[in-house]
Amino acid sequence: MSVTVRIMDVHAREILDSRGNPTVEAEVTVIAGEDAFGGPCINGRNMEAAAGNHKERADGGCPAPVGAPYPLSGKIYTGRASVPSGASTGRFEAVELRDKEGRYQGKGVQKAVRNVNTVLREALLGRNALCQEEIDDILIKTDGTDNKEKMGANATLSVSMATARAAAEALHMPLYRYLGGISAKKMPVPMMNILNGGKHADNTVDFQEFMIMPVSAESFAEGLRICAEVYQKLKQLLVKDGLSTGVGDEGGFAPSLKNPEEVLDYIVKAVLAAGYKPGSDIKIALDVAASELYQEDSGMYYFPGETKALHGSRRDALSAADTKEASVLRSTDEMIALYEELCRKYPIVSIEDGLNEDDWDGWKKLTKRLGDKIQLVGDDLFVTNTGRLSAGIRLQTANAVLVKVNQIGTLSEAFAAIEMAHKNGYRAVISHRSGETEDTIIADIAVAVNAGQIKTGAPCRTDRVSKYNQLLRIEEELEGVSVYENPFPEKYGG
Ligand code: PGA
Ligand code: ZN
Repeated sequence: MSVTVRIMDVHAREILDSRGNPTVEAEVTVIAGEDAFGGPCINGRNMEAAAGNHKERADGGCPAPVGAPYPLSGKIYTGRASVPSGASTGRFEAVELRDKEGRYQGKGVQKAVRNVNTVLREALLGRNALCQEEIDDILIKTDGTDNKEKMGANATLSVSMATARAAAEALHMPLYRYLGGISAKKMPVPMMNILNGGKHADNTVDFQEFMIMPVSAESFAEGLRICAEVYQKLKQLLVKDGLSTGVGDEGGFAPSLKNPEEVLDYIVKAVLAAGYKPGSDIKIALDVAASELYQEDSGMYYFPGETKALHGSRRDALSAADTKEASVLRSTDEMIALYEELCRKYPIVSIEDGLNEDDWDGWKKLTKRLGDKIQLVGDDLFVTNTGRLSAGIRLQTANAVLVKVNQIGTLSEAFAAIEMAHKNGYRAVISHRSGETEDTIIADIAVAVNAGQIKTGAPCRTDRVSKYNQLLRIEEELEGVSVYENPFPEKYGG
């Protein structure tokens, strides 16, 4: 006898994300049953009838299964999931389908919602939700393109995630355990964003994210507390100096500081003020999001904030081509030299997207120079795509992959990228997007795959904090079993 959890209904709607832009939320409704007597049979009826009878059956129970004692038989469960959205989106990401007309300044997702409610629903009715790979394969094939441009990766991902949730619900299992089985027990170290720049804020900070990692904590809960304490101290320091404490898209503060060193000095001060040791208690991680700084025509990286900080109100004039000499521009080599310098001065343990998403040669050089000292994370470079990741592994570029489920569009493909990374000695960092919802699935995924690191913003704004809170619940549930450890060998970021 084997248990089946058949999909009876799939329904999507348009909701809002944390930036007030529309996104897709899906619900997958399943009925638990068994195949004790062969075939796709639920409670003695065939699965099509079961799917068709969803509406009448939703209010009450189903008849007891024929001669079958499986206790979950006939019960109906719904899994719900919603899709995040990026701002510094990589060029090679799967397509986020937007309506591109009228409502919400073209950002509506009614087409993606329609795709879920018609084509994808049809393709999935009656399927066994426990077979996640099969479900995802159907989503991939129904779309039929390389980058999910037909259905939209936002459409496919909403269904993929909601299916996993429905299956876990039907088995009465926590999601992390359903996804990861008995080995799911490693709590991720937060890579916590406390200061925002780049596309996530309107300040003069050019690097997108400055993050802290509480590596000496004994548990996730302790690590989270340490980070929140540092965050509050940072706020006090900024207030004292008359700087803005407004926050960026991921909840980190967004003051106008003049260059990366100035930001890092504030962070080190905040760590010390909170009573912790930079380097041994707290390490620093950066997401440069360098593709956003890269200029195709000059082949250089342009730092608009640093330029403005240097030239003040003359900045508008500076954006004209004839003032180029006055702009802060860095070549690939100068970017690498800057990182080496920053790593010498500060306890930096990880740099994400240090170079442009297409600059494989630059990445190779960067990896050669810094790859055995710090973690080099490919976000826009790999876009959670096993094709790009395997190229990166072959070329020995980076040594970690950022995993954003919506970059690829199904859970199975994201899990394949994580597996490929782990098999090849690369780390995987599970990540949110700058546009998020209340969905906490990345917390469960991080534990399920024992990733050891999670990037999910500041301890500020519920779209970010909800993931941390879910991890607190998971750690509590795994009491006595969970593991929390510094993901880096001693030599990293000392
Ligand atoms: P995004 O930023 O979600 O705006 O792409 C997050 C990141 O670059 O890591
Ligand atoms: Zn990034």
